[in-house]
Parts: sequence; structure tokens; C-alpha cells
Amino acid sequence: MVDLHEADKPLGRTELIARLKGRQGLVCLITDAIDAPLLAACPDLKVVANVAVGFNNIDVVEATKRGVVITNTPDVLTETTADFAWTLLMATARRVVEADRYVREGKFKQWEFMLLLGGDIHGKTLGIIGFGRIGRAMARRARGFDMRVLYQDAVAANPATERELLATRTDTATLLRESDFVTLHTPLLPETQHLINAESLKTMKKTAYLVNASRGPVVDEAALAQALKEGWIAGAGIDVFEREPEVHPALRGLPNAVLAPHIASASSDTRLKMANLAVDNCLAVLEGNTPPTPVNPEVLARR
Ligand code: DGY
Repeated sequence: MVDLHEADKPLGRTELIARLKGRQGLVCLITDAIDAPLLAACPDLKVVANVAVGFNNIDVVEATKRGVVITNTPDVLTETTADFAWTLLMATARRVVEADRYVREGKFKQWEFMLLLGGDIHGKTLGIIGFGRIGRAMARRARGFDMRVLYQDAVAANPATERELLATRTDTATLLRESDFVTLHTPLLPETQHLINAESLKTMKKTAYLVNASRGPVVDEAALAQALKEGWIAGAGIDVFEREPEVHPALRGLPNAVLAPHIASASSDTRLKMANLAVDNCLAVLEGNTPPTPVNPEVLARR
């Protein structure tokens, strides 16, 4: 039997727990907090299939203790997410949102030599923090723009991948200091919370741009707003926020910030693939099989 919540809004916590009574499988979204109290209140659960690659909404350690399998949706969203992070990068550097507003507001009266000058992308240095699937997809796109690519990750890519992507591993400090664009593709972990803060923003070039399509709390939003306002960096393209759906009020008023409501993987094709993969994961566990894309709690424990 399937209990389908059709509205595109999260169920309240009490209702979610009530509807999970006696259920073995849950297909859920990143807006559903699957924490220890919920897992304790739903002892029949065998699998939680998150329709997302990120799973910071789920207490994986607690779930594993209780024998609940957690799955996510990697791979199917890699290219779409990288497409959007690249879109933010370009829109921010070339001031697309400001330009659109300028035209709509009837300000385009004549061509001007110095109007809406932006930053070049081609030939610049791209710094990628988190060199997993999406980070690597960003590096692949950078090749088309003749960019130098630096990356930071706890694990080095193999030499063949580094050669193919023309990417050089470096430490975070060097990456922040030397990059013209810094793009974040790290999971949200205790050690990546506020990885980008006032101190790190001050070490970036004044002409540099920040892109975040990973998780909001990786960036200290108040510090970012100050950095953008006071010109520590040139601009930022932000798809994710510290306290979604809240957005730091100072960010909203800044013309050099391009803001999006967490839609990096939101293409019709990809959303369908994510939903199908999550359902396949859920059914596999309920049928006693290994799901296609389980979250490996050992990998998490090693981090
Ligand atoms: C993910 O997959 O983690 C995205 O942030 C939500 O689609």
C-alpha cells in the first residue's frame, strides 16, 4: 500500500510521524527532517529514500543503528546541477540580472561604453572546493573557457582525472587566494560549516566571485553580505541559504548577488530521474535487495 502526499509542500512533523505509523518505506525530500526522535517514533521503517544527493536532513548514524537503510540520488543530477552552478557563475560575472532589470525598468536609453562592466570568465582561474561528481563536472565545463582549475578535496583525484580535467589539487588557503571564481561543491559536515567566513572571504581577490550550489551553512551568510557590500569580493551566485527558505535581509538588497531558491537540480528531466531513482531505492530495500544508491554510513564515519 502506498500513502502519497501529493502537495509540493512538506508535511508537518506530527502528520509525517502519524502517516509513517506501520509503514516500512519513506520516499522523502530535503525539507523532511529525519532525525532521532522521528526514527524512534517510526520503528517499522526499513528504508528512507531521499530524493536528493545531499542527505544532511537525515541522521544517518542513528538510522544505521536502528537498521534503517538510507539512500540518495547521486549521478542523475550531476550535470544539471553543474549547468546551474555555471549559470550562476556567468550570470554573476556578467551581471545578467542587473542588466535584465535595467532594460525592464526602461533605463536603456542609449548604448554606453562603460555600462554594466563585468568580469571575464575565459582564461581565469576557477577554484573548486569539493571535487566529487559535481565539482568535476564544473572542471569539465571550465575547459571550454580555457580556465586554470584548482581544486581542494580531502581525497586527491587520480592522476588521469587530474590530467583529463587539467585540475591541480591545492590547499584551501591557496585556492581562495589565487582563484577568480570559487565554487562550492562540498557536502555539509561539521567541518564544512562556515568554511567560507569573514576570514576566508578577506583572503579572496577583490575581483573574485563566489558560487554556492552545495548547502547554505557552508557559507556564513552575514559575512558574505558584508563582503559583497564592502567590496571584499566582486559578487556571488547563491542557490542555497543558511536558514532556507529565509534569506539574510542584507543579501536581498545587494545588486552584486544573484540569488536562486535552491533550484540547481531543477530541470524537468532530472527531477523525474531523481524521483524514479528514489522509488527504485525504496522498493529494492522493501523487496530484500541492495538498493542502487545506498548512502554508505562507513564513508560518513571516516569523514
Ligand atoms: C540535492 O540533491 O542535494 C539538492 O540540493 C536538492 O535537489
